[in-house]
Amino acid sequence: MSFIIQLIVIVVAFISHANEAIAQFIPPYTSIVVPVSKHIDVAKPLYSAKILTVYEDYTQYVRLNFLIDIDAPFIWHECTLQWNTYRGSCPANTLCNYPISCEEYQCEDLRTTYSYDNPSCPPVNKGPTLPGWGYCTCPVKVVNPVTGSCGQALLSYDHEYTVSTSNGRNVLSGLYGAYPNAACAPSSSFESFPTNVTGIMALSTSPYALPTYLNGPLKSIMALCLPSTLSAPGVLFYGNSSYYLLPQSDIDIRSFLSYTSLIKHPNSFGYFIGVNAIVIKKRSIDLFGNTTTKLSTIDPYTTLRTDIYNQVVRRFSSVTKRILPAKPVAPFGLCFDTSTKASIKVPDIDLVVEDGKKWSISTANSIKQMTEDVACLAFVDGGATSEPAIVIGTYQFEDNFLVFDLEKSTFGFSSSLLRKKTSCANFNFTMAS
Ligand SMILES: *[C@@H]1O[C@H](CO)[C@@H](O)[C@H](O)[C@H]1NC(C)=O
Ligand SMILES: *[C@@H]1O[C@H](CO)[C@@H](O)[C@H](O)[C@H]1NC(C)=O
Ligand SMILES: *[C@@H]1O[C@H](CO)[C@@H](O)[C@H](O)[C@H]1NC(C)=O
Ligand SMILES: *[C@@H]1O[C@H](CO)[C@@H](O)[C@H](O)[C@H]1NC(C)=O
Repeated sequence: MSFIIQLIVIVVAFISHANEAIAQFIPPYTSIVVPVSKHIDVAKPLYSAKILTVYEDYTQYVRLNFLIDIDAPFIWHECTLQWNTYRGSCPANTLCNYPISCEEYQCEDLRTTYSYDNPSCPPVNKGPTLPGWGYCTCPVKVVNPVTGSCGQALLSYDHEYTVSTSNGRNVLSGLYGAYPNAACAPSSSFESFPTNVTGIMALSTSPYALPTYLNGPLKSIMALCLPSTLSAPGVLFYGNSSYYLLPQSDIDIRSFLSYTSLIKHPNSFGYFIGVNAIVIKKRSIDLFGNTTTKLSTIDPYTTLRTDIYNQVVRRFSSVTKRILPAKPVAPFGLCFDTSTKASIKVPDIDLVVEDGKKWSISTANSIKQMTEDVACLAFVDGGATSEPAIVIGTYQFEDNFLVFDLEKSTFGFSSSLLRKKTSCANFNFTMAS
């Protein structure tokens, strides 16, 4: 069975490469598709992508869960370095990869230009040599997105990741193989991660993030839809495709999208947009012009610089006067008593972007139920000097379809799919017959 999978991977990978040379060839898929799971077993909700990989002896496929990080500069996961791959010295049930030596260009390039931007991490030195290999290894700094603590990983070649192909509607039978370089970290680095999550999938604009390693048409567009539920997966696509979510099998989700420019931000490989105003029930909160806003798949809630936060909270309390307030529950500053109501409904918070387009944050994405009796406005105060002034977090992304067009440098957003009677957990993962 696994041999067959491997064969398909090789064929698909070959087709992908050939595609660049033979312009007329049209692959049977428009995209690759990866299921996205929500995890709530650590301090903040996190989301992972399920990817198939293979143990060194090529006999056994394993599913690995990688945390989705649209800001990380490179991919890293639990694995071991091994230079003498033909000696069978890769321990059982371990992923082994060939080391990149500290003298190679990539090592220097990644360390100087594409490393994690965290001044509090200690500098890395030349790596130890591996017995019998004779070269120095290439340690790189990593930052644990759960705890914020610093660690180290060792850079290596050709990690094998296999994902499903798609037509935007279903999963297709062909598989797609990508072979990125990534860094290996020991299992202890992942102890604070959600259960069964043992890696970071970098989906940023860094040349060491995943998109670089996908073939031409796939890498131009990323679409991400984070689920709000644990019961069914959300979805991550790469590829310029139409996308469909059940039960509307005839509506391309792209028809729901508004677009704004992605803006470049120095020292970051992440994604940023400009927000001109925040509007709540027709009244605009003054942002003093175009405010740089970061998109984050690691921050759980939208963070606002104190001056903006205070205005949002003041306006939001005034438009929700008829709802009984409750004592705030950290990290939130504005909460409501829901003991007499099953649920509350609040006005939208509209982020106004280019050309007056609005990203509407409706109740499902603005109010978080904390206990049976208390629900809170799921925005947090980032402090007086927080930079960027706005960071949009994952609670505001759930059940919103997001498209990152890396070629045109634009960002598409749907606002809540619940208003369109669908959700991120509605992709039909059944294989097309
Ligand atoms: C973790 O993975 C193991 C092995 O695949 C599985 O049996 C277990 O149910 C998983 N645990 C969670 C919490 O997903
Ligand atoms: C995606 O495809 C559409 C046509 O279907 C085309 O207009 C657009 O330019 C393509 N975008 C990219 C980034 O290739
Ligand atoms: C905000 O400014 C950036 C340049 O700094 C520009 O690219 C972007 O289009 C502007 N956004 C809005 C919403 O005006
Ligand atoms: C999901 O896709 C399969 C394969 O195309 C199809 O048979 C099935 O009807 C779809 N499910 C729904 C609920 O439409």
